Amino acid sequence: MAPGPVLACRALSCRAGGRTIIEDLTLELDRAERVALMGPSGSGKTTLPTTLAGLLPPASGRVLVGGVPLDEQPELRAGLALVFQSYGMLSLLTAAENVEVALRAAGRAPREAMRLAAVTLERLRVARFADHPVEELSGGQQQRVAVARALALRPRVLLADEPTAEQDATHRAVVLDELLAVADEGTTLVIATHDPEVAERCDRVIERWSGRGCRWCHGGRRPTWPRPTPARGRGRRSCCCWCPRWRQPRWRSGAPSWRSKRRPGDAGTSWPRWRHQERGWRR
Ligand SMILES: Nc1ncnc2c1ncn2[C@@H]1O[C@H](COP(=O)(O)OP(=O)(O)OP(=O)(O)O)[C@@H](O)[C@H]1O
Ligand SMILES: [Mg+2]
Repeated sequence: MAPGPVLACRALSCRAGGRTIIEDLTLELDRAERVALMGPSGSGKTTLPTTLAGLLPPASGRVLVGGVPLDEQPELRAGLALVFQSYGMLSLLTAAENVEVALRAAGRAPREAMRLAAVTLERLRVARFADHPVEELSGGQQQRVAVARALALRPRVLLADEPTAEQDATHRAVVLDELLAVADEGTTLVIATHDPEVAERCDRVIERWSGRGCRWCHGGRRPTWPRPTPARGRGRRSCCCWCPRWRQPRWRSGAPSWRSKRRPGDAGTSWPRWRHQERGWRR
């Protein structure tokens, strides 16, 4: 694959139900990058990964996989895996068969598909239910099977739509650890989520701007150490781009600003020079 972003979209706009859901979005996702996609319900968190995975044609703009337009080479979809918000399980098949079918469709041999399915279901703590029809599983168990199916494919890009929404705290940690582990091995990970703790473990947060329009805030790579603090004011969100609402600088660097170095009496301040000397400040 050509160097550069693994997955990108250029001037992407999506419409649904006669409304624009995503407008003029340009994004680049690098290899092994972990990106959280956040925004209120109905903001397009499902629409965006579905479009990036090539399952929904955009109204305008392009999705590029390794620099190649996805609409020109649909076979590039093989490198992308999507965990659906509604799981997308084949309800009459067992949990193991659901994973195996995806692997067989991706060209794996039957034995290899069975072995990979068993290993991945074990890692997602659903091995006990491997032989159960998925319609007999709980919502959380089905969701872990859906995650297992995507993970087993070892895709270049894994797009997961709220993959921890149905999980208790223990299983949420299991799912998240497994997803982040594939990113460590080179898979680009995009997680649509409402969960700030999930976003906290990603490298970048791409967030829907809550003002008018359908703009998305691209997010910036956050320094991991020293732990950054918001630039100003409690609860103020930081951002690398120039959304009208988030125009403040991103993170406090720790270095004193030019303002704090100035002394009263310096050019531009109103203090007389003698006050300076009285206080023993050096010029
Ligand atoms: N098939 C469709 N027909 C009409 N409108 C649709 C369709 N799919 C999505 N929409 C609309 O697109 C908007 C974005 O939907 P989407 O499912 O992407 O939101 P979301 O951010 O994933 O929400 P949630 O957090 O609730 O999952 C919604 O307002 C929804 O009504
Ligand atoms: Mg959704």
